[in-house]
Amino acid sequence: FSAYADESGSQCKYLERKLPGAVIIGVKKSGTYALLRYLSLNERVRPALKENGCNLNEIHFFDSDLNYSFGLEWYKKQMPLVCKKTEEKDYVVIEKTPGYFRSEKAPERIKKFDQNMKVILIVRNPVKRLQSELTHCDHRQKKLGLNRKCLKMNDFFENVFLNGNQSDLFGNKFVRNSLYYLDLKKWLRLFKINESLHVVDGDSFIQRPWLELSKIEIFLNLPNKIQRDNFIYDEKKNFYCLNETDGQNCLGKNKGRKEHVYLSQFVKSKLEIFFNKWNFLLFDLIGKNFNW
Ligand code: A3P
Repeated sequence: FSAYADESGSQCKYLERKLPGAVIIGVKKSGTYALLRYLSLNERVRPALKENGCNLNEIHFFDSDLNYSFGLEWYKKQMPLVCKKTEEKDYVVIEKTPGYFRSEKAPERIKKFDQNMKVILIVRNPVKRLQSELTHCDHRQKKLGLNRKCLKMNDFFENVFLNGNQSDLFGNKFVRNSLYYLDLKKWLRLFKINESLHVVDGDSFIQRPWLELSKIEIFLNLPNKIQRDNFIYDEKKNFYCLNETDGQNCLGKNKGRKEHVYLSQFVKSKLEIFFNKWNFLLFDLIGKNFNW
């Protein structure tokens, strides 16, 4: 027979497009990309993520009515080519679309697609995540030549905390995206915590990625392959990067940005206080405390 190489270079007799066994549902700007890239250090993991220059094409199957209407055959075509299952080895394809977390329809659609789907959610300190999303938004607005409203969001928050009503915060999408408790409740109606839905502490993942990755390997019933020495801390990047034979390999400059949109100390402390209650509700819901 002639051997084929799959998309990661492994030699195998037969190739197939495999549907995902796990999905990273969000939360956006919490480290979802780094999580999938670094999980792929385990040779049994195959990411379903098409890199297109600086852009990442996320699949958006379960949260987009249009893509969903194309059906499973369309979804399967988006999947990587992997070696067909052998007795000793099976691969788990992991898809990541952070848009799923806030979607009303995604939880039911995913459950219907596969009763046994494993769901992974990564969350960060809500203020840090919010600031990262504002920065991401500002880069987009700048690139498109739009009015850079995200750059000036500090004024909005300052005004709410000094003169306004804190209920105005719920209508702000950057704040709402950090209220993890509200959306997670909807997922936990269909996916059992720890059994089929695993929550990752994104701040711990930044500090010690190998620890959080080992927990995911257990959650996915995979052998533990990812180790401390797969990583090397890059002083310039200020993040852990992959420790490869020909040097360290860090994520691109739009992941782990140096500069973030300005938020005053006053605004940050007020936001921390505002999120505190929601963090405790979240920790209670998942039975873990992330200490933020
Ligand atoms: P910043 O660029 O604002 O620092 P996502 O992939 O969900 O869009 O998340 C992007 C965030 O991933 C980055 O936000 C960064 O904080 C975080 N991240 C976590 N681990 C990282 C790593 N090893 N390298 C770069 N960024 C990482």
